[in-house]
Amino acid sequence: MSSPNRVTYAEPDAAGALIRTATSHIGFRVPDVQAAAAFYARAVGLLPHDALPDGGLRLGWGTGHHVMDLLPGEPALDHFGFEVADPGGLEALEKRLRGAGHTVTALDESYLDQAIGAPAGLVTTDPDGNTVHFHSPVYRSGEHAADTGRRPVKYQHITLGTGDVARMVEFYCGGAGFRISDQLSDGNFAWLRSNRDHHTLAVVYTGRAGLDHYSYDLAEWEDFKTWCDRLTEEEVDVVWGPGRHGPGNNLFIFFDDPAGNHVELSAEMEKFHDDRVTYTPRRWDPTPRSVNLWGGQLASWRKTSEGN
Ligand SMILES: [Fe+2]
Repeated sequence: MSSPNRVTYAEPDAAGALIRTATSHIGFRVPDVQAAAAFYARAVGLLPHDALPDGGLRLGWGTGHHVMDLLPGEPALDHFGFEVADPGGLEALEKRLRGAGHTVTALDESYLDQAIGAPAGLVTTDPDGNTVHFHSPVYRSGEHAADTGRRPVKYQHITLGTGDVARMVEFYCGGAGFRISDQLSDGNFAWLRSNRDHHTLAVVYTGRAGLDHYSYDLAEWEDFKTWCDRLTEEEVDVVWGPGRHGPGNNLFIFFDDPAGNHVELSAEMEKFHDDRVTYTPRRWDPTPRSVNLWGGQLASWRKTSEGN
């Protein structure tokens, strides 16, 4: 590990500027768009909304905003997006990012469809080179009515692998306006919030940039049994969990998509009430039983400090 033993991340001045901002959508490059789309229809009920240029597909639930773009190419995270419902939040965000010297461009018109409320949006690049979208509120008709066992409640958070957690925390807190909810005490993992959820974005030291995993919400613990049985029926292996994370207190299972992306199903994430209580970011020991309270079983793909 490159990080020193004890690291305390301070919250820059802009931290807390976003308090009504949620994950919105995620875009993947995948070698076989049709196979990936078929998998996501089968696994989580996402269906094609639109065709994209070059054989890509845009997937969603209901008739509102999309959840996922599948683009042809070598497996990679292409972009991810956040919906900024903070009043004036998008304008203030653009000012902060430009002020800190970050590039900001207009969001591609295909994301700003009249049918989803003609939102405004911007695109920026984080220190790892990830493309990040921020846009104003959109219609989400049909998005939050989960059919238990057949589709999750919503797309909820993204966790990025990185070679430099400190630089990513500085960007997402100091530039974008997220807050720090929890960190590993050695600085190798930080969980960031932009609304009442414990985290909408997390950053973990993996030595390289890219997606670590992303997560959908289930409603409750009872749903996990149905989901584990149904995934098994669909010949999709549960590869991690069930477990409960210390940071966030959320229940989880994981499975993989055909391109190798790690997908989490989660419930009961801790809520933060910044308008009623003052929080100090907590520092968890980097041990297996911090990341998984239930006995410390860890993800097979991640060799970060909690497993040492
Ligand atoms: Fe997660």
